[in-house]
Amino acid sequence: MKPVTTNRTFLGGLTSVPDGGAKEVREGLLILRRGHDAWAYRNVCPHFSVPLNYEPDTFCTYESRVLMCAHHSAMFRFEDGLCVDGPCSGARLTPVAITIHDNNIFIDEGGGSDDENKKNCA
Ligand code: FES
Repeated sequence: MKPVTTNRTFLGGLTSVPDGGAKEVREGLLILRRGHDAWAYRNVCPHFSVPLNYEPDTFCTYESRVLMCAHHSAMFRFEDGLCVDGPCSGARLTPVAITIHDNNIFIDEGGGSDDENKKNCA
């Protein structure tokens, strides 16, 4: 059996993301936070495949539960990226696997082949 190796990369402290808000921690990678929970998605709206924000690192969220795309107001749930209202209802943001340890956020960059890494990021 092939050993599984991973490279975890530090993305930042949990509190660097506003509670109930969002932050682009690296180009194209968005973190949403609610309290001690956080979720990561590619910063691409499934409606027109454009970034979810207009201004750099400025994201619209509502009641710490949904992220609104700045273009046509699609609303995405924090916890699963599902579009619950707007022009792409039923579509989802693309999740990215992260872990939180001691209030720090890490991304699993993967250690396998490119194909395996693509599966991890799908
Ligand atoms: S591009 Fe996001 S809702 Fe249209």
